[in-house]
This record gives sequence, structure tokens and C-alpha cells, in this order.
Amino acid sequence: MTEQNKINEARSILAKYGSPCYIFHSDEYIENYRSHEKALKAAYPKYEVAYSFKTNYAPRICEIVKSLGGYAEVVSDMEYCFAKKLGYENSRIIYNGPIKGPLLAEHMYAGGIVNIDSLDELDRALSYCRENPDHTYKIGLRANIDIGQPIISRFGIDTSSSDFEDAVQKIRSCGNVTLSGLHCHISKSRTVESWARRMKIMLELADRYFPDNPPEYIDLGSGMFGVIEPEVASFFKMEIPSYEDYARAAIAPFYEHYRSFPEEKQPILFTEPGTTLDNRYVSLLSTVTAIKEVRGKTFAALDTSKFNLGKISTDFNLPLKVLPMGRPEKQLKDADFVGYTCLEYDVVYRSYSGSLAVGDCVVFGNVGGYTNVQKPPFILPQCAMVEKKSDGTISLMKRTETWQDVMETYIYEEE
Ligand SMILES: Cc1ncc(COP(=O)(O)O)c(C=O)c1O
Repeated sequence: MTEQNKINEARSILAKYGSPCYIFHSDEYIENYRSHEKALKAAYPKYEVAYSFKTNYAPRICEIVKSLGGYAEVVSDMEYCFAKKLGYENSRIIYNGPIKGPLLAEHMYAGGIVNIDSLDELDRALSYCRENPDHTYKIGLRANIDIGQPIISRFGIDTSSSDFEDAVQKIRSCGNVTLSGLHCHISKSRTVESWARRMKIMLELADRYFPDNPPEYIDLGSGMFGVIEPEVASFFKMEIPSYEDYARAAIAPFYEHYRSFPEEKQPILFTEPGTTLDNRYVSLLSTVTAIKEVRGKTFAALDTSKFNLGKISTDFNLPLKVLPMGRPEKQLKDADFVGYTCLEYDVVYRSYSGSLAVGDCVVFGNVGGYTNVQKPPFILPQCAMVEKKSDGTISLMKRTETWQDVMETYIYEEE
């Protein structure tokens, strides 16, 4: 696409849908999804994607995942309802997380997959099963494992104390419940080596608690690198592994472990990609509203914020492109791009040097995960989101929110 065509396209999107505006690049998303799935399935045929809804629950994205055969991974009743509304069968919804709501009972009754996070939550789930003895239920456990990660995670049931053993016994001594699977998720551990370690520990756990017949599934959570742009890769200061690297180091040993079992007894292997699938495939168009200099420091104010762009925009400079659409162009040096929120720390890009004008369009890349879903109604409502196909077609995915959308749940004094 020529520079002029990019400018024309941005101009027409902003004119039609307002600024800022998210763009979801659906065909590239699908291509990445397929190559991720292909690499992992090649190493273990019973591998399945369980898409992490919390990362970006835009219905269009979740519908694409469903059409590609993915499962839904949800962590609240709200997300469970989203998945049901989109037509996911309970058997293809994994209900995780530390605060499951009352709909957990409906999900378990319908044969859904559930991974329990604590002994207290297990007690609640088991009392429901006991109160409904004419039905059978399946329960999985989230294991809190130590792979040498830098923090003590609060998620899952501790496998280094008697808690995990207790949980297994509680499930197995409840007549109408079976222990169906094991789950873990380790944050801040994206290296291939850490995946190999998590796999090894989970296999040891599976052998211990399922010595004769494998569990129905083992779910390794998420945290693989996706295909990332050089600007993003440089932040991590390491060689970014490919999906094939993960498959070789962590998924192939899983196959080796269960190869001797007939296929129907081999467990399903889930991972729960979120940012891995999303990040690169959403960008955000925004507009420069003011450029000012204060005591030698240059600021460019944009009509977006760190809330639209996500925490990642404060961790490092996102991939950025300026589309010259305003004038007069100024030559800036070490300018900070700042958001609309009235917060001093709302700096969305640091040390920009180059030309810029009020009215220019600033395009941020890599904003697919934990962005639109985490935007609070602070100062401004949320902007629109559109889908762009590789043939250039643009269609609306989410309309711009209005002030009425924000205020409608508050109660007003009667006049
Ligand atoms: C249980 C669980 N699964 C999946 C994810 C998604 O992880 P990622 O965004 O690294 O793909 C998370 C993120 O926190 C999680 O807690």
C-alpha cells in the first residue's frame, strides 16, 4: 500500500467512525491463528486452542476463534455469558479464574470444563454436586506449580503442600464427581525453557494423580510469544522463539509421554493463548490535537490514552507510524506523546523525534490484548473498532460509545 493510500484510508476511517479508532486486521489474525495451531498440532494431534476471552472479547474475534474450531477460556460469569451468546457449547467452554460466579453450577450441570482455583471454591462446587446427586459432574484443578518463576503466584492450589492432594481426595470421595483434568498458567514465563519445565512438572503431576489412565485433558495456560514486530521484540532483549520452537521443546515430549496409549485415551492438550493471538493484529488510529513546549520539553497531545493503548504502552514504545495529515509540520526532538486523561503519567510514547503537525494521524501497532477490554469510562467513553480485511474492506465491529452509554446505569433523582 502506498503512503498516500494509507493516508487516504486513515482519513476515511476517522471521518466515518471518529478518532481514535481501533482496526482489527482479521485476515492476518486468522493466518497467525492457523500457523500457531498447525505448529502445535503437528507435535501433538490432540492439541486444542482455548482462546482467552479476557484478552479481547470483541465478539467478532471470538466468533472467528469459534469458526476456526477454538474453545473459549472464560474467567467470570460475564465472559461465560459472552461465550454462550456467541453459541459456544458448554463442552467447548473452559471456566477458569479465582472468582467464578453462580453460573458455574449451570456450566458444570451442562458438562462444561471447569478448573477450580482454591479449596474454598472446591467446597462450594462439591456441595452443589452433592445437592444434585442424580447427575454426574467433572471437575479439573488448577495446579499452583513452581517452575522457578520470580514470584509466588496466588493462582491455583499449592502442589508443594498437602492442599492439592486434599483437593484430589475430596473430588474422588464425592460419588457423582470425577477429576477430569489438570490446569496451570504461569505468567511472565514466555521462554521455551520455561515451557519445557511447566510441561515436565505437569506430566509428573498427571502421572501421580492418574497413574493408570491419563486425565481427559491437561491445560498449560498461556504465555507463548506470538509473531512480533522488531520494535516489540527489542524490548525483551532475547531471541524470540517461533511456534515450532515451543512445539519441539514442550509439546513433542507430551506426545512421547502418551504415545503408547490408544488415541481415545490420550488427553486433550490445551493452551490458552490471548496476547499470543491478538496483540499484533489490532492497531489504533489517533489524532494529534496540540503540540506545546514547556520549559524546553516538547509534548504532543493525542485524543487517545494509555487506557485505550493498554499497560503495554507504558512498558515500552509501541510500533508507531505518523501519517502526515495536518499542518504546519514542526520538527520535534525528544517529544512525549501524551493522552487525554489529565493524568501526568499518561505518556503513550516517549522521546519522539521527527516531523509532526496538529491534525496528523498517529497509528499505534500491537494493541490487540488488554486494551479495549480494560478501557474505563474515565473522562471519555470508548471509541469505535473496525475490521479491515486484506482486500481493504472495512466494517464496523463496535460503535463509538456515547455519554449516555456511560451514565445509563446510574440512578437519577426524580424530578
Ligand atoms: C489463566 C490464563 N489463561 C490465559 C491467559 C492469557 O495469557 P496471554 O495473554 O499471555 O496469552 C491468562 C493471562 O493472564 C491467564 O491468566
